[in-house]
Amino acid sequence: MQRSLDEWRTGSVPWQTWAESVDTSRELFGRLVGVPADQVATGAAVSQLLAPIATALPDGAEVLIPDIEFTSGVYPFAVHADRGVRVRTAPLATLAEAVTESTTLVSFSAAQSATGEVADIPAITRRAREVGAITVLDGTQAAGWLPLDAADVDFLTVAAYKWLCAPRGTAYLTMPSRLAETVPTDAANSTNAANPADSTHPRRAEFFDQLKPLSAGWFAAGAGASYGMPMHLSEGARAFDISPAWHSWVGTAPALELLLDVGIEQIHAHDLSLANRFRAGFGLGESNSAIVTIDLDEGQRSWPGALERLDAAGVRYSQAGGNMRFGFHLYNDEADVDTTLNAITDTATS
Ligand SMILES: Cc1ncc(COP(=O)(O)O)c(C=O)c1O
Repeated sequence: MQRSLDEWRTGSVPWQTWAESVDTSRELFGRLVGVPADQVATGAAVSQLLAPIATALPDGAEVLIPDIEFTSGVYPFAVHADRGVRVRTAPLATLAEAVTESTTLVSFSAAQSATGEVADIPAITRRAREVGAITVLDGTQAAGWLPLDAADVDFLTVAAYKWLCAPRGTAYLTMPSRLAETVPTDAANSTNAANPADSTHPRRAEFFDQLKPLSAGWFAAGAGASYGMPMHLSEGARAFDISPAWHSWVGTAPALELLLDVGIEQIHAHDLSLANRFRAGFGLGESNSAIVTIDLDEGQRSWPGALERLDAAGVRYSQAGGNMRFGFHLYNDEADVDTTLNAITDTATS
């Protein structure tokens, strides 16, 4: 990425050189979550990619989310309150049971940002299918360490700057294959044909018929700059692309390549073993998450000076939702875990 910024500064190579990284990343991400590249749209952020989905919901739709869901999976729906779209919340552990006949869409994270809790994806999607609800999975805190299958849900979105080790500003959205086939490609055919797979439930058919690539621009056309009408949108999910921040994508593609080379199953095992070593240091039982959170207030009471010691030891972590959040990934090892544990608990050194 630094090299491409240098090329940009000196104008030494044409933009197409960097734009290729968008398609490489699209292809690699498709491989990561088990779908072909034409089912993957690229964008800059989760909230931006969810906006067309929220806009396709009918007036009065009910959206169900976990009560601690990260804002980017909530506000794209909540801003439609003026037309009666209602966001209902339920605890993550009982999200499947909270789906009712009046639920139009369920939006949830595979791993929660605030706590690291891993969702029971099969239970939630099974119940959603029973009532014909659309499913949106946010894999931002999971893709890269937790194996994910895009076919489990209607839409899978991931911001790549976390566990996919990318620069800020690159994100993905997968969509169903038949939808990808029915995106309008010219001005004369400006509404989607009903998706045959979804017409079994009228609410789903109505939703997919309304789904439009709201940020379509020259990249949604796929063939370079063009002018005027008629419109020639790309086939498939690419019609939902926004104009990419090229240099961020130059950094995104090789990171994905590395993750795929190592293998997600292997990263999963590595990350969990570090997270569980960390948990054991506090007497906590094993968990299925690479993210470990400690209540911030309680942590400061139990181990006075912990924040200062973490800082002095060069340990980076987040403070999220009243928790200290530690994430363990392929660039960490057991020594990192032990350094962190000692920094928190070794009150004698402060
Ligand atoms: C679950 C989840 N989704 C999305 C995001 C990022 O959202 P956006 O891409 O809209 O910045 C984060 C960032 O913390 C997150 O934890």
